[in-house]
This record gives sequence, C-alpha cells and structure tokens, in this order.
Amino acid sequence: MLQSNTRAWVRIDRNAILHNMKEIRALISDSTKIMAVVKANAYGHGDTVIAKLLENHGIDTFAVSSVDEALNLRRVGVTGDILILGYTPSVHFHYLAEEDLIQNFLSYDYAVKLNEFAAHHQVQIRGHIKVDTGMGRLGIRYTDEEDHYEEIKKIYDLSFLKCEGLFSHFSVADEQDEQNLKYTAHQNELFQDVIKRLKKDGIDPGKCHIQNSYGILNYKMNYDYVRPGLLILGVTSDDQIPIHSHPDFIPALSWHANISYVKTVEKGSSISYGRHYICDRQTKIATCSIGYADGVPREASNKNMCVLVHGKRCPIIGNICMDQMMVDVSEVEDVKEGDVITLVGSQQNEQIKIDEWSRCVHTINNDMLCRITSRVPRFYTRLKNE
Ligand SMILES: Cc1ncc(COP(=O)(O)O)c(C=O)c1O
Repeated sequence: MLQSNTRAWVRIDRNAILHNMKEIRALISDSTKIMAVVKANAYGHGDTVIAKLLENHGIDTFAVSSVDEALNLRRVGVTGDILILGYTPSVHFHYLAEEDLIQNFLSYDYAVKLNEFAAHHQVQIRGHIKVDTGMGRLGIRYTDEEDHYEEIKKIYDLSFLKCEGLFSHFSVADEQDEQNLKYTAHQNELFQDVIKRLKKDGIDPGKCHIQNSYGILNYKMNYDYVRPGLLILGVTSDDQIPIHSHPDFIPALSWHANISYVKTVEKGSSISYGRHYICDRQTKIATCSIGYADGVPREASNKNMCVLVHGKRCPIIGNICMDQMMVDVSEVEDVKEGDVITLVGSQQNEQIKIDEWSRCVHTINNDMLCRITSRVPRFYTRLKNE
C-alpha cells in the first residue's frame, strides 16, 4: 500500500518516547527495571519501531499480548526477553521454545499442558506465573476467599518449564478513594504473601512485578520490574484522573489529515448522511480526508468535537463518514485544499489532546489510541542526535 501523507497520517515523536522513559525511571527505584508493554501495536504507535527504539536505548524486556505480537518483534530483530501476557493456543506452543519467548503460566492446568508439550519435544519453556490477587482476569486465584497457593507452588516443580517470574495485576490503581486504595493495598499484600510463602518453602519466585502505569504513578514499590504501556507514550487513561506524582510526560502521538475541498454553503443547507446538521447561517466548510475507517469515532459526530485548522478550533459538523468528515471553518481565513488539520496535537498556540476525543465518546485513551486504524500510516520523527 502506498504510504504517503497526502490523506491522513499519524506522527510519532521518538524523542518524546525517550523523554518519557526517563520520567518513568525517575519514578521508580534504581533496582527496578522497566518491562516495556508494547502490546496492541504499542497502543497504535507501532510496536516494532517502539520496541527497536527502546532496545537501542537500554530496554531489554518487553511485554505483548500474544505470540503473534511476540513474533512480530522477533522478526524485526528484537533480541530481548518478551513476556506474552495472554494465552497462547497449543498449536503455537512450538514458537515459545523456538523463539525463546516467556509465556504467562496463567493456570496450573495450562502449565501442565505446556510441560507435557515441552517434555514430548524435549525443550524447555520459559514463563512467569500469573497470580490473580483481585483483577479477576487471568491467573491462579489468590484472594482471601480462594487460596490456591499449592497450584502456584507446584508449577515451579514442572521439570520442562523454566519458571522465571511471578506477577499480578492491579485493577484499580488509578482510583484514589478510600475503598479502592484499600483494595490495591490488599492486592499488593496478597502478592507479597505469595512471594513470602514461596521463599519460606525454599523456592525462588524469580522476577516479581505488579505495577502498570497507574501503579507507577500512584505507588512506591520495589519489585524487579514495572510494566508501563501508556506512560511510555506520554499519556494516562484520562487526564482528569488525579495522580499522586507530577511527572512531565510528553504525548508522542499526533494525528493529522488534509483538507480536500473548501466551499461556502447557504443557511439551511444540510451536511452529510442523515441530514443531522443544518447550517444556521452561511457556512464555510472544509471536507477533510479522514473518517471512521481511519479511527475517528463516528459517535463524535455533531458533538461539537473540534479539530485544529490554522491554529484555530473548528467543530466537526454532520455525520462523520467512512473516509471523510466536514468541519466548519467559517472563522478561519484563507483555508484551502491541501491544508493540514490536526485531530490530536498542536497547531500554533492551540492543542487538542487525545483525552478530548476519549471524553467525547465516553472511553479512555487506551481505547481511543487503539482505534486509529492500520490504514493510517505512522511516521516517526528523527532522534535529536540522528
Ligand atoms: C498485564 C498488564 N500489564 C501491564 C499493562 C500496561 O498497562 P498501562 O498501559 O496502563 O501501563 C497492561 C495493559 O493493559 C496489562 O494488561
């Protein structure tokens, strides 16, 4: 496919990514390493480019959601450790050994299955055990009500598995109310408890980790790894959620499109499918070459959501179409075909953050970033010293 910036594109600031890594480093203890979470194509930023950039700058451990994502990284030459956070189906077990990947040992039965495969093929499979301390997703349950410690312990004995770590995941590390603070503290206590019991039983739990981005922002802990995804990209889930620390993150992503056509229509004209927008005055309209097939949420139609044109905020009017959308540029002078609009990012003194889009469509930045589709080419800035 032609990768040009004549229609719509995303720009990723690689210097911002490196800056954000320094900010994360400043928040964690010296002995803690960063496991860079680059799953879901690094939340739409481009997993291979981001992982290579980080590997060239000292990061040697990555996390992805699936074996396919892990193979993507290997194909571009990422040599560091790669933890697969999700489930790998048995037809793909062979990749784990062949590509030296680290699998989430997400339950005892699953670990037994992996061990049988490894024994049959006389290979060793590396992994970290997932303990579910209250997220309720993957992992061996270890809560006040369900103590499956013995299952965790038994995985360390499976002779064809190399159990190199233990991890858990917070479910409300972003919340600051008393109940949720207590819940997170208790998840951490349960995780600590498993570590202590293993040590007492003479088992080295391996590398331990539990903190995602909000875990890093809101809690001082001292595990072997932290697992940030969002923070590397310079955003949080929602900029209105209060956080405990005040780091200086720079959003790495900006999002742009071109104007394909400018016209002035008379009062009473209807714009786009469904005729949901009727001009209440003579209106200058820019048609922009971007739409919901590029990831612009259709739910943002007629919600007064703005884009930047010549540094001014201009509202999207009418229903957002698959490949195009219309913007009221009546207040902007000299707008013409080929001018660049900014959906996310800055123009002159104005800025639109991804958070505005997320709020408009009632979601979080994680989701909004992942919605930018693959047909939108990603361009990467040069590093300062390149
Ligand atoms: C298990 C696990 N760890 C770490 C992360 C990274 O989270 P965040 O992007 O909030 O840092 C995720 C993301 O959802 C995750 O599922």
